[in-house]
Amino acid sequence: MIRNLFEPLPLARGVTLPNRIVMGPMTLNQATESGHMTPWIVEWYRRRAAGGTGALIGAAAFVSQGGRGWVNAVGIADDSYTEGWRQCVEAAHAHGALFGTQLFHGGAASRVSLLKQQAGFRLGLDTRRL
Ligand SMILES: Cc1cc2nc3c(=O)[nH]c(=O)nc-3n(C[C@H](O)[C@H](O)[C@H](O)COP(=O)(O)O)c2cc1C
Repeated sequence: MIRNLFEPLPLARGVTLPNRIVMGPMTLNQATESGHMTPWIVEWYRRRAAGGTGALIGAAAFVSQGGRGWVNAVGIADDSYTEGWRQCVEAAHAHGALFGTQLFHGGAASRVSLLKQQAGFRLGLDTRRL
């Protein structure tokens, strides 16, 4: 039986989880084609925080263009992605929730169709086998 589900849990460095409810990462496929954040995604996280989730883990965010895994998945590949993630963090914090995200690189399973959208991209693998 879970006795402390709604009790705060102190973590490291003075950060406290407001309760023990943590949402796992879920790819939503609602980013722009370039993987930038959309208001739809920010609102989706805001609603989960407003509902009382203690911490949200954002969806797998590709860390480089060559590691993209899904159409319209979010990225965190350069500074142009920062503003969108800032909005997610602020939406969570506005309701007392913590926010972090999952960093992702698809490796050899990266989607070739997405990679080919990138001008000058060189995978360095035999993409015919992927
Ligand atoms: C729509 C959807 C998207 C998901 N996207 C991710 C993802 O981006 N990264 C990840 O590690 N897991 C992803 N998952 C897996 C979930 O985070 C979670 O591990 C899975 O639903 C099993 O949860 P459970 O262990 O609580 O049953 C996704 C699941 C769903 C349903």
